[in-house]
Amino acid sequence: MIAPLIEDFNPGIRTGKAKLNDIYTRLRSETPVVRAMLRGVAPGTSEAFLIARYADVSAALKDQRLVKDPPNAGVEAPPVPAIFRPLLRNMLALDDPDHARLRRLVQVAFTPRRVEMMATHARATSTALLDRLHGRTSFDLIREYALPLPVTVISELLGVPQRDRRRFARWSGAFLRGASMRALLTSLPDILAFLQYLKRLITMKREAPQDDLVSALVAAEAEGDEKLTSDELSAMIAILLSAGHETTVNLIGNGILSLLQNPDGAEAVRSNPSIIATGVEELLRYASPVEMSTMRYAREPLTVAGIEIPRGSRVICLIASANRDERQFVHADQLDLLRSPNRHVSFGEGGHYCLGASLARMEGKIAIPDILARFPQLRLGTTPDRLRWRQNPVLTGLERLPLVV
Ligand code: HEM
Repeated sequence: MIAPLIEDFNPGIRTGKAKLNDIYTRLRSETPVVRAMLRGVAPGTSEAFLIARYADVSAALKDQRLVKDPPNAGVEAPPVPAIFRPLLRNMLALDDPDHARLRRLVQVAFTPRRVEMMATHARATSTALLDRLHGRTSFDLIREYALPLPVTVISELLGVPQRDRRRFARWSGAFLRGASMRALLTSLPDILAFLQYLKRLITMKREAPQDDLVSALVAAEAEGDEKLTSDELSAMIAILLSAGHETTVNLIGNGILSLLQNPDGAEAVRSNPSIIATGVEELLRYASPVEMSTMRYAREPLTVAGIEIPRGSRVICLIASANRDERQFVHADQLDLLRSPNRHVSFGEGGHYCLGASLARMEGKIAIPDILARFPQLRLGTTPDRLRWRQNPVLTGLERLPLVV
């Protein structure tokens, strides 16, 4: 069967989660695989197959016939200005064996044991950020807490000096204006500044190595043997810095918003903070920080839900839709902080499963109960329809989250 084409799908121009969820419900029941013209996911407008149901998304994310590097599917890579090319040599954009080689170099830093060791520092950072809000009657949770917490945690891990952290949050925001040619060109000055900063950081760690991940990667590059090329080194730091906080900020922001809109849930966390163990999984499912997977390319033809996907096609898994699939989750549109089992796909699946999942969970489990405990009367400082979402098709997060205490 040929997939139907839908015209009105553009999650980047977000008018509210509710509307998008209605579209997903319709897709899952009527047309579980569609073609859509997507803007902002890659340079130019690109047609892609979108997969909406949980079972199909979960299978596709693990399917070896879907690859990340276009030439591996016989497709030309999208045109990207030369300046960006080094950054494309990152694990999320590559297939094995390069993907596996790059992932192996850093995965020891993200094991649950190592992450547990970082929790003490994350807790202290959370407390300090909340202390700074003492006496205030209103604030923007994103700028004053949800962004600085993960920026601090990933910076400590990588070894980014304190004085540079504020700036790189802005630079990494530049990547997230989307990948349309226009967005790339608008972001050019910030991206150039970021690349120059990466060079300086690498030189600094080469000259004075410390006990941090960038120093370890610089040493791996110096060892040669194709362990890590110089472009791959920059690309690795860039993806860790950016993936390390741009998603976690959304877990905290979307998570708190969901709890304020479901006050029983907020009260349950306040009266029994240990509920956050299952609660954080449910918030990841209910308000997916990542809307859709990154782009994949069909190396061979495949059939999904009866629809033929020809070789060379672009494929995207709708993570936020899979997470609300009533075939997989009972009362999928309800927030149930005790939900178990809860096999959401918010961190993806298969070979590209999120490297930082343990880190993100650790931060979410600290942040959400901390915020609620500190402010027993927390309320939304605006009406839900006035909330501004970031104009990025792949991630789902608020520009600002005004709160009143
Ligand atoms: C709530 C927070 C987070 C969410 C929802 C999330 C989600 C995801 C998803 C869905 C993928 C797979 C994308 C795909 O297959 O197309 C992914 C990959 C990845 N994530 Fe995360 N992420 C989060 C936090 C983090 C953190 C804290 C880091 C830390 C550095 C991180 C690093 C990565 C990396 C490096 C990959 C690529 C892995 C690979 O290609 O093998 N993420 N993430």
